[in-house]
Amino acid sequence: MDGALKDPAISWGREHQLSSRPKRTRFTLPLLILIGLSLHSYLYLLVPSQQASVLRIPRHAATTLAKCKNLHAEPGPPPNFHDRATSDRYVPGTKPVLVRNATLWTGNANGTEVLHGNLFLADGLIKAVGAIPDTLLHAYADIQTLDALGAWVTPGLVDLHSHMGVGASPQLKGAGDTNSHAASMQPWLRSIDGLNTHDESYKLGIAGGLTTALILPGSANGIGGQAFAIKLRETEERSPTAMLLEPPFGLNGSDVDDSIPPRWRQMKHACGENPSRVYSQTRMDTFWQFREAYNKARLIKEAQDEYCEAALSDQWYQLEDKPFPEDLQWEALVDVLRGKVKVQTHCYEAVDLDDFVRLTNEFKFQVAAFHHAHETYLVPDVLKRAYGRPPASAIFAAFSRYKREAYRHSEFAARILNDAGLRVVLKSDHSGVVSRYLLHEAQQVYYFGLPENVALASVMSTPAEVMGMDHRIGFLRPAYDADVVVWDSHPLQIGATPTQVLVDGVAQFEQSVIVSKNDSLQSVPAVPDWTAEAYEAVAHEGLPPLAPEGLKDKAVLFTNVREVIGITGAVVTAERDVAGMTSIVARGGEIVCMGPLCLRSADAVGARVVDLEGGALCPGFVTFGAPVGLAEIPSDSSTADGPVGEAGAVVPRAADGLLFGTRDALLAYHHGVTRGIVAPQGGGLVSGLSVAFSFGAQNKADEGSIGQSIAALHVDVSMKAVESVSTQIARLRALLNAGKKDGELGVYATKVMEGTIPLVIKAHSADVIATLLEMKAEVEAETGKRFMMTIAGGTEAHLVARQLAAADVGVVVLSPRSFPYDWERRRILSGPPLSKDSNVMALLEAGVTVAVGPHGAGGPSSWGVRNMRFDLIWVMLESGGRLSKTAALALASTNVEKLLGVEPSGDLVATRGGGMLDFGSKVVGVVSPKRGVVDIL
Ligand SMILES: *[C@@H]1O[C@H](CO)[C@@H](O)[C@H](O)[C@H]1NC(C)=O
Ligand SMILES: *[C@@H]1O[C@H](CO)[C@@H](O)[C@H](O)[C@H]1NC(C)=O
Ligand SMILES: *[C@@H]1O[C@H](CO)[C@@H](O)[C@H](O)[C@H]1NC(C)=O
Ligand SMILES: *[C@@H]1O[C@H](CO)[C@@H](O)[C@H](O)[C@H]1NC(C)=O
Repeated sequence: MDGALKDPAISWGREHQLSSRPKRTRFTLPLLILIGLSLHSYLYLLVPSQQASVLRIPRHAATTLAKCKNLHAEPGPPPNFHDRATSDRYVPGTKPVLVRNATLWTGNANGTEVLHGNLFLADGLIKAVGAIPDTLLHAYADIQTLDALGAWVTPGLVDLHSHMGVGASPQLKGAGDTNSHAASMQPWLRSIDGLNTHDESYKLGIAGGLTTALILPGSANGIGGQAFAIKLRETEERSPTAMLLEPPFGLNGSDVDDSIPPRWRQMKHACGENPSRVYSQTRMDTFWQFREAYNKARLIKEAQDEYCEAALSDQWYQLEDKPFPEDLQWEALVDVLRGKVKVQTHCYEAVDLDDFVRLTNEFKFQVAAFHHAHETYLVPDVLKRAYGRPPASAIFAAFSRYKREAYRHSEFAARILNDAGLRVVLKSDHSGVVSRYLLHEAQQVYYFGLPENVALASVMSTPAEVMGMDHRIGFLRPAYDADVVVWDSHPLQIGATPTQVLVDGVAQFEQSVIVSKNDSLQSVPAVPDWTAEAYEAVAHEGLPPLAPEGLKDKAVLFTNVREVIGITGAVVTAERDVAGMTSIVARGGEIVCMGPLCLRSADAVGARVVDLEGGALCPGFVTFGAPVGLAEIPSDSSTADGPVGEAGAVVPRAADGLLFGTRDALLAYHHGVTRGIVAPQGGGLVSGLSVAFSFGAQNKADEGSIGQSIAALHVDVSMKAVESVSTQIARLRALLNAGKKDGELGVYATKVMEGTIPLVIKAHSADVIATLLEMKAEVEAETGKRFMMTIAGGTEAHLVARQLAAADVGVVVLSPRSFPYDWERRRILSGPPLSKDSNVMALLEAGVTVAVGPHGAGGPSSWGVRNMRFDLIWVMLESGGRLSKTAALALASTNVEKLLGVEPSGDLVATRGGGMLDFGSKVVGVVSPKRGVVDIL
C-alpha cells in the first residue's frame, strides 16, 4: 500500500485507464468535482481524448472511489509505522526509563536471541535494545534507571484469548457480557461494547506480566462477534476505548475513514458443542448456519465488487441512483472474505476442525487460529488444508477432559504441533485459566517438551503475530510499544514472578514485593524426556493407556537414590556410596532393603532395575477438592456419579459412586498423586461422606483400592446457594445440637460430635468462616464436647487466620493461588509481587494447619490434580525461604489426611532426576503397601 491511498484526490479511475489519456494533475478532477457539487447535480465533463466522450459522474463519486480502492487494501500499520517517535498510547509526563544490566529475550531469531545489556524506553516506545548509544540518552532528561541486576527481561505477555472485562470478576448477577443469546451468527456484535473497566482481573493480569489481551466474545454463538485487543493498564480517561491497543477502522461506527489503511479486525467464531447445544441443535445445523451467513456475506461482496468495477472504470451510468451495496450487520463478515479480519475460531475435535476447514475453502477466507483446538495435534494435515496460511493452534497446557470435545487433550500437543511445523499459542480463555498465570501454561508445555524458544514465543511473539499486532508488541525491538517485564527468575521456572512491569513505558508497580530466589533459578530448567509418551499419545488418538504396571511378587531395585523421605515426612538417613547415592529394593509394596549394599543383596536378585539418576523416594501426594474419581467427564453426568440432591434421610457415601481408573486419576498418579479423598458432589447443605481411595487401583474389588470408606461428613455453606446463609447456618446448628439426631444424618452428626469423624465445611467468605467458628464454640459450650472442624475452600480465610488457629480449625485451601471469581472469594491475598504473603503463607504463619488442593477453572478441577507438584513448588518458592521442603510436602500429603480424618496410605513415590519438588524430575514408580504392589509408570 502506498501513501497515495491517504489522498482520495488521486484515487480517481484505474491507473491503466488514466494512462491512455493525457496526463491529469492531482488537482484537476477534485476541482471539477467541487464544481460539480456546486452545480448540485451530475457533472457533465468533457474529457479531452481521441474519442471525446461524456461522463456522468454522481456526487458521491469521490467517496465511492476511495471506498472501492480501499476494499482491496491490505490491513496493517502504515509502511512508515516504525519511524514513529512517539506512541499513540504515550501517556504525557511518563519519564524515560533505562533498564540496566538485563538478560533480554527479544523474540528475534525464532525466539532464540538473548542479549545481555540495557533497554531504553521513552515516549511510550522501546528506543534501543542491548547497547544504547550515548547520543540517544543525551537527547532525554530526567531518565529513571531500573537496575535489573542481570535478571530476565521479556516483552509483556500477550493473551490471544481472554474474556476479562466481559466476563465479570467477581461474577455478579447483573454482569456477564460474554455471550449473546439473541442468535447464533452475529458478526455485528463487539466485545468492546461490554467491556467493564472495573474488572479485578486487569491489575492481577499485570501482576503476572500480562500487558495485552484479545477480548473475545464467548462461544455460545457460531459467530460471536468482533474481538478487540486491549492493554491492561489503567488509563487517565478510564474508558474501554482508551484501553484499545490499536483501534481498527470502523470502531466509531459505520463511518469508515477510507483515506487511511485499515487496521486488522478480529472476529470470534465457534464450532462444536457450545453453539450447537446453546441453540439445541446439532453440528449439522450450526454448519448450515455458517454457510448461510457466509453466503450472505459473499453476495454482498460480489455486489460491491461489481459496483466498484463499474465505478473504477468510470461507468457511472451503470450506477445511477444505486447506492453502494452494503449492510451494517454483515459488513464485518464481508471484511472476513476480503482478508481484513483475523478469524479466531473456537474448535476442538477433528470433526469440527474438518468442517471448518471445508468452510474456509468454500468461501475462501483464512483462519488466524483455532482456539482450544484440543485435537489439532491429531490432524495436522487438516490444518494444512485450510484456505491460505495454516491456522495456529491456541491451546491450554492442561485444562481438559471437562467435556467430550476436550477428552483427547494431550499435554504433548504443543510439541507435536511444533514438530509438524504449525504455530502454537498458549492462551488463558480467562477466567478458564486465570490470565495472571498465562506464563505457567508455557512452563507446562515446556516441561512436556516444547523447545524453550517456542515456549516463550507462545505467550509473547506468536500471539502478537497471530493477531496481526507484531509490528508493535510481542518483541523487544526499537519503535515497539514499551511493554516490558522484569522477572525474578527465568520465565520458564515455576513461579516466575514480575518484579516490575511497564506498559507503554508506564511502570505498573510503585513498590513490588520481590522474593529472593536461588541463582540456579535464573537458568532455564532441565526437563525430562517425554519422546516415547508423545509418540504414544498420537498412536492412541489421544487416549494412551495409563494403567501402571503393578509388580506384586517381583522385586524392584531403585538405584542412584539421592534422598528418601519417609511417610511421616521426615528425611530417612540411609547409608550412601561415594557419590552420595543409595539403593532401595521394594517388593510387594514394602521396602525390603535400603543402602548401597542392596545392589548385591539376595533381595535384588532378579529385580527390575529402575535408575533414579539422583532422584528420590517421597510420600505420595493426597488430593482433596476436585471430583476426581466421581466422574470421567465432569460435565457429562452419564459418565459420573452425578449430583447429590439434598441429603436428608439418607447420607450419600462417595465410596458408593466411585469410578476407578479415570484418566484424571491415572494422570495424577503419573505425577505423584497416589490418593484421592472425595466427597459426593453436593447440591445443598449436606453433601455426604467422603472416601479415601487409591488412584493406582483399577477396580473397587482390587486389594487396597479403598483406603478408608468413610472419611468425613461434608457440608457446604455458600452465599451462592438457593437458601440464605443464615438458614444454612441455622440448619447446621440444629443438626449439631444435642437431642436432635434423627435418622442416618443424625447418626453421622453424632459421630462428628463424638470426635469420630471430622466435619468438613466448604466455605470461602471470611464472614461465613467467622460465623462457623462462633457456631462451633456455641455448640461445644452447650454439649461440653469438642469436635473437629475443617474449612475447605477458605479463599478469605487469611482474614480470620488468628481465630482459626485459636479454634484449632484447619483449612484445605482451594486453590493455592487465589482469584476473586465471585463475591464470597473477593478478598484475596494475591501474593508476590502484590503482597508478601499468599493465603497459604498467611495461614501457616498464624499457626493454622493448612493443606492445599488442586487448581482448576473457577475452583479446583479434576484435570488440575496432576499439577500438584508444580503448585507446591510455586508455594514454596514464593514463600521466600519461609516454607521448608518438608512443610511444603506436608501441604499435599500428611496435612490433607489429618484434616480429612484419614489414616496415611503409606505410599511412596519414586522420582527420577530430582525430588517431588524439583521441576525437572519425573515420577517413575509407586510403592504401595496397602495394595501390596510396586507400580512402574
Ligand atoms: C523455531 O525453533 C523451533 C525449535 O527450536 C523449530 O522447531 C522451528 O522449526 C523453528 N522455526 C523456524 C521458522 O526456524
Ligand atoms: C549485572 O548483575 C550481576 C548480578 O547482580 C552482576 O554480577 C554483574 O556484575 C552486573 N553486570 C554489570 C555489567 O553491571
Ligand atoms: C474515532 O473518532 C475519534 C473522535 O473523532 C477520533 O479521534 C478517532 O481517531 C476515531 N478512531 C478511529 C479508529 O477512527
Ligand atoms: C541453590 O540451588 C542449588 C542447586 O539446586 C543448591 O545446591 C543450593 O544449595 C541452593 N542454595 C540455596 C541458598 O538454597
